[in-house]
Amino acid sequence: MINYGRQSINQKDIDAVVKVLKSNFLTQGPYVKIFEKKLSKYFNAKYSLAVSSGTSALNLAAKILKWGKGDIIFSSPITFLASANCIENAGATPKFIDINLNDYSIDLNKLEQQLKKYKKKSKALIITDYAGHPSDWLKISKLKKKYNIQVINDNCHAMGAKINSDKGYAVKYADISILSFHPVKAITTGEGGALLTNNLKYFKLADQLRSHGVVRDQKQILKKGNWYYEMRNLGENARMSEIQASLGCSQITKLNHFVAKRNKIAKFYNEIFKKQSLFTIPKIKRNFYHAFHLYPLLVNFKKLGKTKKKVFNEFKKKKINLQVHYIPINTQPYYKKKFGLNKKNFTNALYFYEREISLPIYFDLSSNQLNYIKKVCKKIFQI
Ligand SMILES: Cc1ncc(COP(=O)(O)O)c(C=O)c1O
Repeated sequence: MINYGRQSINQKDIDAVVKVLKSNFLTQGPYVKIFEKKLSKYFNAKYSLAVSSGTSALNLAAKILKWGKGDIIFSSPITFLASANCIENAGATPKFIDINLNDYSIDLNKLEQQLKKYKKKSKALIITDYAGHPSDWLKISKLKKKYNIQVINDNCHAMGAKINSDKGYAVKYADISILSFHPVKAITTGEGGALLTNNLKYFKLADQLRSHGVVRDQKQILKKGNWYYEMRNLGENARMSEIQASLGCSQITKLNHFVAKRNKIAKFYNEIFKKQSLFTIPKIKRNFYHAFHLYPLLVNFKKLGKTKKKVFNEFKKKKINLQVHYIPINTQPYYKKKFGLNKKNFTNALYFYEREISLPIYFDLSSNQLNYIKKVCKKIFQI
């Protein structure tokens, strides 16, 4: 079965993990620190904190930024559930903004209308760089200043993406940037994530909250004894293990290489679909480098004369597992029941959901497999 995404693991990755398994540390230890240093260097971030998942990084960010009752946090309906659930978990109010049909991120004009409307209550934005294409970060940073609002970059799809050759854009424009190392992402640690920031205060608090809000202060230890620690804030266990971090250290050395291959695959798909009126291929803005975590293809199923379900089943029969990214979050029963759904405000997100399919894209896809996918596409789409 060819899945829409999967990890790429080589012998070096395996050796790195085995080495840790034979060492003294399994939970957070020296490899976590090394991995964090590598992340900081790659993303040009002053501080990096490796954690147990992208979801826990988002939840930590919400705590650090002190979201709570009465705060409105804006997010996209076309992103993973976690980029909205962290708002609910913090007890704040999510407000979904429709997407634009260029980069499939939040429509910034619609966002600004809402920022004006909810001036006092607006606290933060969560911007997902959907599929791996950076959002319009220059415009977002202007809105950040104009409306004095916190900004999180959910960069889980976009590791390795660039604006004007700068892969540090993710940390430059946002207060906090979030990564995920889930196996379908550009690099993996099995499960895992990270929180990147240039703000020392945020970093120190995140570091505390990652491990139960506990502080081990050297001065206090000297005074009271070696066992001494204090819990100063309500935290959790969001730690990354040494096993994960050692895999991360090995994987990050290949990130550029992985992303380059993803771009090659995207070009291969573009050639198949770009001249056909049935499809819309992903757009890339000038001076932007796409990380292609996903290859979202929009298909006019009405014109094709087949339903999306039928097309999915036909691909499955040919042992190709497509996916859809995403079902709009505000149409999920939990959110619909709690906040209602005014479809008129989400015409782009609903149009996108009707048409989007994610084609297989990952480093280990061979040219034989790609040619096979091409053959199957031609047959199923009758092109
Ligand atoms: C956009 C986005 N945000 C957050 C997450 C959550 O990351 P994780 O699966 O590591 O918790 C994901 C992962 O699927 C994601 O795609």
